Parts: sequence; structure tokens; C-alpha cells
Amino acid sequence: MSVPLVSLRGVSRSYGSPPTVALSHVDFDIDRGEMLAIVGPSGSGKSTLLNLIGTLDRPSTGDIHIDGHDTGAMSDSELSALRAFAIGFVFQQYHLAEGVSAVDNVATGLLYSGVPASERRARAAIALDRVGLSARAHHRPQELSGGERQRVAIARAVVGEPALILADEPTGALDTRSGAAVVSILADLNASGTTVVVITHDHQVAERMPRQLGIRDGELVGDRRVGDLVGTAS
Ligand SMILES: Nc1ncnc2c1ncn2[C@@H]1O[C@H](COP(=O)(O)OP(=O)(O)O)[C@@H](O)[C@H]1O
Ligand SMILES: [Mg+2]
Repeated sequence: MSVPLVSLRGVSRSYGSPPTVALSHVDFDIDRGEMLAIVGPSGSGKSTLLNLIGTLDRPSTGDIHIDGHDTGAMSDSELSALRAFAIGFVFQQYHLAEGVSAVDNVATGLLYSGVPASERRARAAIALDRVGLSARAHHRPQELSGGERQRVAIARAVVGEPALILADEPTGALDTRSGAAVVSILADLNASGTTVVVITHDHQVAERMPRQLGIRDGELVGDRRVGDLVGTAS
């Protein structure tokens, strides 16, 4: 019961040779049900860290456990399966398929989850409703605002009901108001039990999260918990 959802121990990641150290000796745990920001300036290692937590990349040294699984001992196909069931991703630039309706974009979030094709659209419609976009289900991305596109991307990330949502600068392409709406939706998902990690360089966004991990030059520089601010700022 008490095993953390995410656990990093001595995690480092270098690129190239001679090596550029993007992340150096990082240790922390994330418990089920948490919502936290990983905050730091551009180039500090945030995306590197998110890719490692999301098992899209492997550390140069150190251990990462996801829900008790030692990811270093898992094959690439085992990691793909873990991702399909346990992790939803949200990116700054949405990564939606152009020319495909919102509901069908969301349904692609179920492609690798074992949900039969006949059920995917119905599940996608429910996920769009969770982000307040039922009325836009048949719109294509180019017919939606930036904030609406990001809500479609969030619906796609949660349609398979993953334990963990990882969002890399989800408000980075949005105006303040749309960004605040996106943070509120992520807070609502967290309130219903999903663990949410938001990467941001924006301190105003980070301050809406109950926990903030600071990162600078590839090192953790702070781990602050502030109580129950989430959801009160919009
Ligand atoms: N694939 C890569 N190859 C080489 N260097 C990289 C690669 N990805 C990131 N880096 C370097 O690692 C550091 C951290 O990058 P990144 O994790 O993208 O930071 P952030 O997301 O905080 O802007 C930077 O110095 C960046 O140039
Ligand atoms: Mg980044």
C-alpha cells in the first residue's frame, strides 16, 4: 500500500560524448494522489526528468521505480505496456492529429490499452465531457483555440484512466486565462484521484500546486509543500 507511485534514487542522465550532464543524482518520491510542479528555468533538465519518470528514456545511472516496478529491469516492450496502462502524457504543443475530430483524437489514447474499438469513441466522449468540451467533439484541432486543443490533449491523456499524468509545460503556449483553465482541469483530475506532475518554468503556475520541486542545472534545489492551494485561484 505504502509503495510510492514514483521513486527516483541517484538518477543521473548525460547526453553525448564528451558528456553533457542534464540531470545529476536526483532522489525523490511521488505518492499516489499527489499533485506537484517541477519548476526551473529553460535548460535546467525538466524535460529530461519528465521523460525519465515517463519511462520514455532510461537514466545513465540510478534507479527508477514506477508503482513498485524496477524500470531498469524491464524490457522496452514491458515499459510500453506500463506506459499504456499507467501514464498519460500532455505536451506544450498538444501533439494532436490534424484533420481528425476531437473525439477521435481522444480515442487514440486507448489504442494500446486493450479497450475494444467499439468502446473507444464512447469512452472518448466521456473524457471530453470531463474537460468540458462535449460541444466540440466533432471539431478538428484547427477549429479549436489553443486552450481547447490542450483540453483535448488532456482528455486523450486521461481516457485510459492512468494513475499518473505527466504534463510538460502544458500552459507554455497559452494565454494566462486559458492556462489557468488548464491548471484547473488538472486540479480537478487530481481531486478525483489521479496523480499529476506538471513541469513548468512559470512560477505562477507552480504556485497553484500543493508541492513544488525546484530544479536548476540538473540538480534538485528544493522540495516545498504548501498545503491546499489547488483549485482556489481561478
Ligand atoms: N537529446 C539531447 N542531446 C543532447 N543534449 C540534450 C538533449 N536533451 C537535452 N539536452 C541538454 O540537457 C539539458 C537539459 O535539457 P532539458 O531537459 O530539455 O531542459 P528543460 O526542459 O528544463 O528546458 C540542456 O543543457 C539540454 O541542452
Ligand atoms: Mg523542456
